[in-house]
Amino acid sequence: MWHPPGAIRHPLPEPGWPTEAQAAAARLFSPVRLGPIQLEQRTWVPAMVPWRATEEGFVTNDVLAWYARFAQGRPGALVVEATGIRDVPSGPLLRIGHDRFLPGLEKLVETVRKASGGKTRLLIQIIDFLSIRRRPEPGKFFARFLEITEAHRGHFPGKDDAAIRTALAGLPEAELERVLSPRELESLRLGARERVSDTHLAHIRDLPKVLPGLFADTAVRAGKAGFDGVELHYAHAYTMSSFLSALNDRADGYGGTRENRVRLPLEVFRAVKAASPKSLALGCRFLSEDCVPGGSTLEDSAFFAVEFARAGMDFLSLSRGGRFEDAEQPKVGQAAYPYTGPSGWECMPTAMADAKGPFGRNVAASARIRAAVRAAGFQTPVVVSGGISSFAQAEGILQRGEADLIGAARQSLADPDWFLKTRRGRGSEVRRCTYTNYCEGLDQMHKQVTCKLWDREPGGDRTPDGKRRLVAPGWAP
Ligand SMILES: Cc1cc2nc3c(=O)[nH]c(=O)nc-3n(C[C@H](O)[C@H](O)[C@H](O)COP(=O)(O)O)c2cc1C
Ligand code: SF4
Repeated sequence: MWHPPGAIRHPLPEPGWPTEAQAAAARLFSPVRLGPIQLEQRTWVPAMVPWRATEEGFVTNDVLAWYARFAQGRPGALVVEATGIRDVPSGPLLRIGHDRFLPGLEKLVETVRKASGGKTRLLIQIIDFLSIRRRPEPGKFFARFLEITEAHRGHFPGKDDAAIRTALAGLPEAELERVLSPRELESLRLGARERVSDTHLAHIRDLPKVLPGLFADTAVRAGKAGFDGVELHYAHAYTMSSFLSALNDRADGYGGTRENRVRLPLEVFRAVKAASPKSLALGCRFLSEDCVPGGSTLEDSAFFAVEFARAGMDFLSLSRGGRFEDAEQPKVGQAAYPYTGPSGWECMPTAMADAKGPFGRNVAASARIRAAVRAAGFQTPVVVSGGISSFAQAEGILQRGEADLIGAARQSLADPDWFLKTRRGRGSEVRRCTYTNYCEGLDQMHKQVTCKLWDREPGGDRTPDGKRRLVAPGWAP
């Protein structure tokens, strides 16, 4: 796991738990409107993939149990994990790319309504992503995957392609760096990864033609399933975030300048808005900063935020980092993972942190972005997340106007009842996330995500059959 150089372990901040009366008067527990819907409080559980869908992307009983458990803590909003919009095999990623997924998703909506007593509004995060291959064995890479080009032939005059493949496979690293292009070297060392700027590939060139319709159809399906809102996934390492990124140098009017980079995200949103029922809250999650060299900055994001607000989004949810560009080299046979490098750490900072610490690392950026949106005359609510896990922090952020809603992912995983406990003046019973990213390690391996604290709970030991708990231990208010 990557840590900033010279990292030190930071203690958890003072929680400042309120009494029940103080909580009742807190901004955190006051209602907020997101376009057509009203949240009962400003608490928000951001999307988290738990790896509980079937291999075909269907809702399972484990998916239902996972979301029911979050709903019992009655957050204002709960966002269902990144859910694939295409009707293509995607492993055990939840999917919504066809009507056959509707019955499972309808059941999920019903389950959350029931478990939260109707208090929690349920949104679904919808995602598109490009292909990434596993890191190849060098032998296979040279024998099969590498496309032999004129550039290679120039290095080996007189040899046929088969002989060039054999010669390349025998070259030392330093020589390979001379003979292969940077992109070929990357495919060898990390596995081939498509980029939005690969416009020589028809399916990537056509993304601006295809994606508005795909996202719009998906949003309509989300409405049919009964969701209260849709969060367009414009964050992290995936397609839409990569259009926004300053690294996007497409030359077809969808890359380069900020105006061009935001064009497809706006076209997608407009298509979604035009197709969706008016009752659905529509917004996006995007990055306050890419946190990779050459990536989008806070200034870029403030610009995007204003454009999203102007287009009529009902909320803006901010994350940071989580990009592929600085991901660690995977083992042979495994795929690169976007949360393994410095930008991944910025996305899910751990207690081993630089002097700034892991807590509320996205707050200053959120304040700047929200101020830009307000200065442009829009009241669009802004959700901030990243290392927020105490009442004092959350209420301070809201009181200072740095954000309008508080997203807490890992703290809600550690203790799905933490909002409810805080609201009832029982904050001292909150199981506090220790920010060591055991959960994220499971996510990386695509194993069922759990929190390491659940099994240590007194009386909340492993399930009777001795297995790891798959949901947090219960709490009776
Ligand atoms: C297990 C796990 C899965 C995640 N899956 C998603 C996801 O599907 N979509 C997303 O936008 N962020 C995802 N995230 C990032 C979180 O939503 C959140 O931005 C991040 O954990 C930082 O917030 P926190 O400090 O409150 O945990 C995931 C995080 C974790 C720990
Ligand atoms: S495993 Fe639990 S305690 Fe550790 S970071 Fe994840 S949620 Fe927090």
